[in-house]
Amino acid sequence: MRHFRPRQWSILLPLALISALISCGKTQSPAVPANPSMESKNPGEPTSAKDPLQIERSSLGDAGPGPSSSNPIPSQEPDPVEVVEPDSSDTEEAPVSLLLSEPEFERRAKLGHLVAKRRCILCHKVDGRGAILQPPLIQVSVRRLERMKIISEHLDQLQADDPDRYQARVDLFNSIEAEPDLLRKMSIWLHGYLKQPTFDNPQAKMPLQVLKPEEIDQLASYVIQLAVEGVKQGVPTPE
Ligand code: HEC
Repeated sequence: MRHFRPRQWSILLPLALISALISCGKTQSPAVPANPSMESKNPGEPTSAKDPLQIERSSLGDAGPGPSSSNPIPSQEPDPVEVVEPDSSDTEEAPVSLLLSEPEFERRAKLGHLVAKRRCILCHKVDGRGAILQPPLIQVSVRRLERMKIISEHLDQLQADDPDRYQARVDLFNSIEAEPDLLRKMSIWLHGYLKQPTFDNPQAKMPLQVLKPEEIDQLASYVIQLAVEGVKQGVPTPE
């Protein structure tokens, strides 16, 4: 009797294991088709990282808790193909380019901030301080960033309506068109604007600001930085 029982188990156990395996396979099988499709989404990820501008926000330099916790060494990976977190509504709105992670850009923006506090507050508020004759600098910066998305149409119109004005800065307009990065496009545009506000629009109301070339470089970086911050904060754009 004693010897019989183990043998009985030796038959029952494998049977139990086999039936357990079968039932496992059954419960897993419906999940199997779902998994590969999700997995195939992640490695490719070209859909969420819509364009090469949209890289991880950690490169903006603000050590927010989100990006730093998911990526402990963000500064080592400035590759444009970095995968964006799937909160797409946010990332879609705030364009981020490698420009923002360049140390030179940050340095210029800092200096531009100082120039703006001296030179722009006659009409635009900067850091909440200054005149209210014109919309705050952050608001016109966000609006300008928006307008850069449709700059090609504007330039086509300019070329048709005001060919002389267009020809006067044709090289600059061509480089705006050729530049794929939205923020770099904006930088080129701002260089034209801060040198001569009517460069692409005879109706531009901002009076000419007398600025040194390096001040224009610095202000362009600062205005771009403001625009990106403004988009992230949901700053409203003026009319
Ligand atoms: C004398 C007043 C005055 C000063 C000073 C001034 N601005 Fe302006 N700015 C204007 C006016 C007017 C507009 C047009 C407002 C509008 O379009 O809503 C404008 C618009 C802008 C725009 C938006 C342009 C566009 O088409 O997208 C930017 C960017 C800008 N200013 C940057 C600056 C910077 C940087 C400084 C400091 C160097 C500065 N402004 C100083 C009057 C001024």
